[in-house]
Amino acid sequence: MTKLLKQIIDDLLKPIMADVWATPLWIRWALIVITCAATIPLALIFRARSAPSDKTKIHIIQNMDNQPKFVSQEANALFLDGRAMRPHIEGTIPQTGMIGDTHKFMGIVDGAWATTYPTSLTVDRTFIERGQEQFNIYCSPCHGKGGFGDGVVHHRANQLVETGVNGTSWVAPKNIHEDTIKEQPIGQLFNSITNGVRTMSGYASQIPVHDRWAIISYIEALHTSQDANPDDVEDSASLPRNSTTEGGSE
Ligand code: HEC
Repeated sequence: MTKLLKQIIDDLLKPIMADVWATPLWIRWALIVITCAATIPLALIFRARSAPSDKTKIHIIQNMDNQPKFVSQEANALFLDGRAMRPHIEGTIPQTGMIGDTHKFMGIVDGAWATTYPTSLTVDRTFIERGQEQFNIYCSPCHGKGGFGDGVVHHRANQLVETGVNGTSWVAPKNIHEDTIKEQPIGQLFNSITNGVRTMSGYASQIPVHDRWAIISYIEALHTSQDANPDDVEDSASLPRNSTTEGGSE
């Protein structure tokens, strides 16, 4: 076996070595020198990348990496006190810190989910209609216009799951007419919209506080639409009634 291998190697190498010995000596030396010299640029690049230097870096693709700006703690001669970081102006609060009114901004009253609307909001027809509009924009794609969890995104995602496209996985949007959701205090709904819930993401950055409460008032309207009692309607006695749907409605 080893004999065979040796034979093969000899057969392969011999012609190559014969060629090498046949090459003039100066070419052989030239090749050795060129090969060694070829490592010099690599060594220089490596050194430049690892050794500290006070020269500005060569930065070919800019991608807006360098732009005029002040970073933390930097000086800025524009202001009398020379600070680029400005102290808070008295009487103002950062956007993310507006939780003094926990009822309005977190849906929490005395450490429990709020069961009423914040007093600064007026829940009237305009408010609910605003909620309807916002619900149809932001929620209906998944939850459906009626809130039954059958929006177009849900249908499309199911199709993708069935056909196995890109390994899609999908958690169905909740039917908001389920008892567990109907029984939730409105503060909890506010929290779900604000911060998201399990696989649903939060909408705080897209829907302002006022509109989140308006959406809740519309969800309550949707709930009522499923459980309404004919007597809830003004002058209902004068309206024609369908005996099969007595006590409930479409
Ligand atoms: C991109 C799809 C999508 C959109 C848009 C969406 N949701 Fe959801 N929602 C879901 C999914 C999915 C769940 C179920 C999450 C789970 O069980 O992991 C859910 C759950 C819920 C729940 C049930 C929470 C609970 O306590 O079980 C409520 C209430 C809800 N959504 C309200 C809304 C409202 C209001 C909007 C509009 C502001 C909205 N959702 C927009 C996908 C969506």
